[in-house]
Amino acid sequence: MTRSHSDPTKPAATSATSPASAPVKLWGGRFEGNTDAFVEAFTASVTFDQRMYRQDIRGSVAHATMLMRVGVLTKEDHALILEGLENIEQTIAAGKFEWSVSREDVHMNIEAALIERIGDAGKRLHTGRSRNDQVATDIRLYVRDACDEIAAVQKRLLRGLVELASKHTDTIMPGFTHLQSAQPVTFGHHVMAWFEMLLRDLERLQEVRNRVNRMPLGAAALAGTSYPIDRQITMELLGFDAIAENSLDAVSDRDFAIDFTAAAAICAMHLSRIAEEMVLWMSAQFQFVDLPDAFCTGSSIMPQKKNPDVAELVRGKTGRANGNLMALLTLMKGQPLTYNKDNQEDKEPLFDSIDTWMYSVRAFADMLPAMEVNKASMREAAIKGFSTATDLADWLVKQGMPFRDAHEVVGKAVKHGVDNQIDLGDMSLETLQGFSDKIDESVFEVLTLEGSVNSRDHLGGTAPKQVQQAVAKAPARVDAIYPTVS
Ligand code: ARG
Repeated sequence: MTRSHSDPTKPAATSATSPASAPVKLWGGRFEGNTDAFVEAFTASVTFDQRMYRQDIRGSVAHATMLMRVGVLTKEDHALILEGLENIEQTIAAGKFEWSVSREDVHMNIEAALIERIGDAGKRLHTGRSRNDQVATDIRLYVRDACDEIAAVQKRLLRGLVELASKHTDTIMPGFTHLQSAQPVTFGHHVMAWFEMLLRDLERLQEVRNRVNRMPLGAAALAGTSYPIDRQITMELLGFDAIAENSLDAVSDRDFAIDFTAAAAICAMHLSRIAEEMVLWMSAQFQFVDLPDAFCTGSSIMPQKKNPDVAELVRGKTGRANGNLMALLTLMKGQPLTYNKDNQEDKEPLFDSIDTWMYSVRAFADMLPAMEVNKASMREAAIKGFSTATDLADWLVKQGMPFRDAHEVVGKAVKHGVDNQIDLGDMSLETLQGFSDKIDESVFEVLTLEGSVNSRDHLGGTAPKQVQQAVAKAPARVDAIYPTVS
């Protein structure tokens, strides 16, 4: 997950020399002088765009096949190109490809290598195409693959949460507002709230994928091409849902990248909220949960420490997720149509958001279902915070008292409880009747934690019965969103 800018003052890790059989600069015809070495390194993107090599080759195979079908390429050239590209893909996958900064980017490295291998047929691949529609196509294919991979992990996390919730439909904990004990809830209900947040993120990912999956290829540099291309063929070969309808927009649109980083930032924000609860709940002051040793680290000086590092890191990742979104919004702001070199700056933030989303969700998918839940501490905390005060007020309203009066009565009872360190449910009937003569023995039913949670028995409520139903419905909801990934 490194964000490395290639340092133009240092020799590149990739080779600066290139074999003699293919020209170093595929665009060198109109130039007399050589590129300044610093400029060459400064303008190159190969150090970070080489991760799109599979997508670049896939796009080239589809382009060559289309050219052959419309009669622009011979069958022989087409066969040579496919064979050459396959060989290059294997060489790269084996880690044996020599990337060259003087060939600038992934596209020209692969094209030059193809020319080295197959000669003139390789020089014909770029007919009717530009790096501008090529790079836009590659990034979309890359983001599409990434969406599918992330969706699979997101689903694993969601199913893990459902599993966890199913074990705790009647585990009682304090529910919080303002981080003050508010009303008792069930832990399963709380976990299912996380489920809802992360399910929306999956839905957003699907929407992003829908907009990503449109094909810029065929727009060429900006205006289209004079060759008799058939974009329908390339669209089908590459599995795109639609063709970008305007060539100028096709090469310059990076909305899909912004869409992705926006969805990533929202999911990172959700994960950070869950992470924050993990960190709080693991503290000696809460002791609601314990995370397995495998997800924590110790302190080199304080022997008692067990730190929730994974949760903290996931919380911290929000910074880069937000930063990447801001970077891309700012990158695109004010760019005139169509392609500008600025766009090369789209990749590092985008790739970083992909990695961040992927790894954070994976960490949580592994960690959350494995956490130990301390039911006794949760219960004790729920009792302590006068969390059934609303239930007492509601009970009084049901006896005919206006809600505002009931609020006042209960407020006085709570004040008494705070002063004398006694919970509402532990006060004697006489004490309670001192606050209102409407109170009788039956009030104690609602002052218990179970009575309180059981009474919130409607769709979306915290009653164990409702949580069981939410858990039962959840798997089908996970299946229904992003159905192409299981
Ligand atoms: N490396 C470039 C990028 O990442 C590829 C497209 C370059 N096109 C051009 N005309 N300079 O955007």
